[in-house]
Amino acid sequence: MKLEEIRTALAADLAEATNEAALAVVKARYLGKDGVVTNLRRNVDFSAMTPDERKGFGLAFNELRSLAESELDAVQARLSAAAQPAPAGFDYTLPADDRRLGSIHPIIATQLEIEDIFRSMGFSVFAGDEAVSEFENFDALNIPGDHPARDMQDTFWLENGMVLRTHTSSMQNRAMRQLGVPLRAIFPGRCFRNEALDITHENTFYQLEGLLIDRDVSVANLIAVMRDFLAAVFRRDIEVRLRPGFFPFVEPGFELDFRTTLGGVRRWVELMPCGMVHPQVLRNAGVDPDVYSGFAFGLGLTRLAMLRHGVPDVRLFNKADLRFCQQFPASF
Ligand code: DAH
Repeated sequence: MKLEEIRTALAADLAEATNEAALAVVKARYLGKDGVVTNLRRNVDFSAMTPDERKGFGLAFNELRSLAESELDAVQARLSAAAQPAPAGFDYTLPADDRRLGSIHPIIATQLEIEDIFRSMGFSVFAGDEAVSEFENFDALNIPGDHPARDMQDTFWLENGMVLRTHTSSMQNRAMRQLGVPLRAIFPGRCFRNEALDITHENTFYQLEGLLIDRDVSVANLIAVMRDFLAAVFRRDIEVRLRPGFFPFVEPGFELDFRTTLGGVRRWVELMPCGMVHPQVLRNAGVDPDVYSGFAFGLGLTRLAMLRHGVPDVRLFNKADLRFCQQFPASF
């Protein structure tokens, strides 16, 4: 028999060995003194082989023997476990546990799809940390201690002086330092703000930040990437527009809207803030703004998942209420 045939025959014999006595017979048949595997080596004429053939045979033989040993051991272990008496009070006639398959949370499902789209455009995914330094979350982004922009983001401070990141922009500085420039990356993840909770405000939510740094990057590149992204999401061409918006870490800063039909009416829908990375933000990461430029955008993943699935209350996402979660069957 050839090695491959022996493997198949062994698997078939093992499947039929339903008790220890039957298994002992199988073991003898393959690994015993006169066993199939043992004989395989005995019957080979090594003198008729080249050194390479000998080596090849040796490797394949050893692999087969250890495979046979470990498969026999595994069946042996299973049979002896099954042969143990039932623990006192164990009732075999009871129905089995109800095993339910989980599914992917709708926000994460949205995140994974968007990751795929950006990967296809050459972006890498850089997750970073949820607890970051005050510098990364604020100062590196041109938001000094007395800047009113800090008030927009009511922050959870940790006792060691770090913060729970209030936005994924906090990964910009680290990404530029760790990955270097030129750079194309997205940073998806959870963010935290000390919000008064209502149907549109949660203290824990997801964002997906994008950062592209290279030579000669312009607003036209930003628009092109955003249009390609939206075309991949909606599987058709999407019209976008930019309105001015203020964020200390971009200059100029924009709000990007896209045009869609909602409730039978063509409307502009606000999608995400974005802009050209502020020269000071580049300098703060050791990047020379005379050589490099770039753009950044901040996509609200939680908001996007709400729009996509028509979820009326953001608090539903974090409640772990099965009646909510089960409405999003596994799609992966
Ligand atoms: N980090 C901002 C926030 O959470 C959003 C944002 C605005 C991100 C402009 C950007 C940007 O990358 O360019 O409020």
